Amino acid sequence: MKDEDRFTRAFILHPSAFILSETEGVELSSNASIKILIAEDEKNLGLVLQKELSRLGHQVTLTHDGEAALGAARESEFDVALLDIMMPVRGGIDALRELRQMEQPPEVLMMTGHATVETALQAMKLGAYDYLTKPCHIRELEAILHKAYEKRQLRRENLILQSRLTYKEKAPDIIVRSHKMFDIMSLVRKVATSNAIVLVTGESGTGKELVANAIHCFSTRHAGPFIDISCAAIQETLLESELFGYEAGAFTGARKRKLGLLELAHGGTLFLDEIGEMSLTLQSKLLRVLETQTFFRVGGVKKVEVDVRIIAATNRDLNQYVEEGKFRSDLLFRVNNFTVKLPSLRERPEDIPPLAEHFLAGVSGGNRFRMSDEAMEVMINYSWPGNVRELKNVIERAVILAAHEDIRPEDLPIELRTHTPTNHAGTNGDNGQAGSLDELKKKQILSVLEQTGWHQGKASEILGISPSTLYRQLKSYGLTRAKRLPGEML
Ligand SMILES: Nc1ncnc2c1ncn2[C@@H]1O[C@H](COP(=O)(O)OP(=O)(O)OP(=O)(O)O)[C@@H](O)[C@H]1O
Ligand SMILES: [Mg+2]
Repeated sequence: MKDEDRFTRAFILHPSAFILSETEGVELSSNASIKILIAEDEKNLGLVLQKELSRLGHQVTLTHDGEAALGAARESEFDVALLDIMMPVRGGIDALRELRQMEQPPEVLMMTGHATVETALQAMKLGAYDYLTKPCHIRELEAILHKAYEKRQLRRENLILQSRLTYKEKAPDIIVRSHKMFDIMSLVRKVATSNAIVLVTGESGTGKELVANAIHCFSTRHAGPFIDISCAAIQETLLESELFGYEAGAFTGARKRKLGLLELAHGGTLFLDEIGEMSLTLQSKLLRVLETQTFFRVGGVKKVEVDVRIIAATNRDLNQYVEEGKFRSDLLFRVNNFTVKLPSLRERPEDIPPLAEHFLAGVSGGNRFRMSDEAMEVMINYSWPGNVRELKNVIERAVILAAHEDIRPEDLPIELRTHTPTNHAGTNGDNGQAGSLDELKKKQILSVLEQTGWHQGKASEILGISPSTLYRQLKSYGLTRAKRLPGEML
C-alpha cells in the first residue's frame, strides 16, 4: 500500500466542526419572563406592582423592607430588584450597597416618592441601573425592567463568550479510522445533544477525557464552561470544597466565600474523572446534586441551584466496586444510564498508523519526520498496555532519538521490538519479557520476520545483524515461515 493511501484515510473529527448554531445564546426578546424582587413599604403599592407585573408574565417576589429583600436575594437569584429608597429597618440605598456585593447580583432600579437629584445620583454611583419617581406608569416601569434585564443577560452572555473563546482554542482533534471508533463517535454525537449523564469507561489512555471534551463540544452547552476534576488526585475534604465551594468561616482558613466547580460549570459541563475513587460520603452528596440540581456550599444554608451536565469517567469496573461496597449502587444506577465504552488500542490496530502520523506531525512541527514502514509494523504489532497515551509518548521519544528523518524500529523502545505480535483479538498478549534470553531472542527474530513478511534482508537490518547470522540463527532455532501472518490481517 502506498504511503499516501495508508495515511490519508484517517479522519480528523474536529469538535468545532460540529458546533451548532452560532446564535444560540441568551434570549433577549421582550416577552422574557423576568425574576423580579420588590422592596416597597407602602403595602398597597407593593401589591399592585406585584399583581400587574405577574399579569405581564414575570415572576415577582414582594418584600416590605430592605432587610427582607436582602434575605430573599440570599435565598435565590433575581434578574432585577426594584427598591424603594425610604423604608423602615433598612432603606433602599443600604440594600443596594449590599446587593452589589453579592455574586451575580440583580440589576437594581430605585423607586422614590421624593426623588432628589442627590439620592438618585448616589444610587447610580453605587451601581443602580436607573431610578424612577412615583407614581410611575406600569408600561414605563416594564420598559425599564426589560432594559435592566437585557443588560444583565448581556453581561452574562459576555462571560459565556469569553469562556467559549478560550475553550475553542483548546478543542482537541480526535483521530479515528477504525469502525469501532467511528461507531462510538456517532453515538457520542447523538448523546451529546441530550442532557443525559454520560459515563465514559475504558483502560487508561484510551481517550476518555478527550471524548468527554467532545461530548461537551457537540452539545448545545458548547458555549458554556467545560470543567474537569479528578476525584483521585485530591483528598476527600479538599475535593468536597472544590466541588461545592464554601462560605466564609465554614472552617479554619475559609476567610472568603469560594465558589465550587459545580457553580463555575453552570450552563456547561462538569467532567468527574476517576469517579470510582470518590468517597462514599461524597458519592451520596453527588447523588443529591444529580437528583435535585441543587446543593449547599460547605458551611452554607442557602440552596444553590445549578444547571450542569455531568460526564463521569472511570477505568475501574464499577459493578465490582459496588459488590465490594466501594461504590453506591444508586449512584451507579444514575451514572451508567448511558455508557460510552472505549476499546483499547490493541482492539483497533487500524487506528495506530493515523494516530502515529498525527502525533508525529504534532511533535516534529511541519513534516520533517516520517515513520518507516518497518517501524509502523512494529507499532501495529505491539499490544499498547498504555493505549493512545503510550503511543504518543513513544512517538515523542522517537523524535528525540531519531538520527534520521525516518523513524526506524531501533528508535522505538525495546519492549515494542521484542514484543510477540498480538492477535488483535482484544487480549493483551504476552509482553515478551518472560522466559530465557534465548526465548526472547527467538521471539524478537520471529516478530521482526513477521513484520517484514519474512524478508530476511530487511529483518537482519532491523535486528542489526548480518543476513548470514540471521540465517544461522533461524536454523538453530528451527524457525520456519508460518502459514498465516498477522501482518496479512491488516
Ligand atoms: N483518538 C484520539 N485522537 C487523538 N488523540 C488521542 C486520541 N485518543 C487519545 N488521545 C490522546 O491520548 C492521550 C490520552 O488520552 P486521555 O487523557 O483522554 O485518556 P484517558 O482515557 O482519560 O486516560 P486516563 O484513564 O489515564 O486518565 C491524550 O493526550 C489524548 O489527547
Ligand atoms: Mg483521563
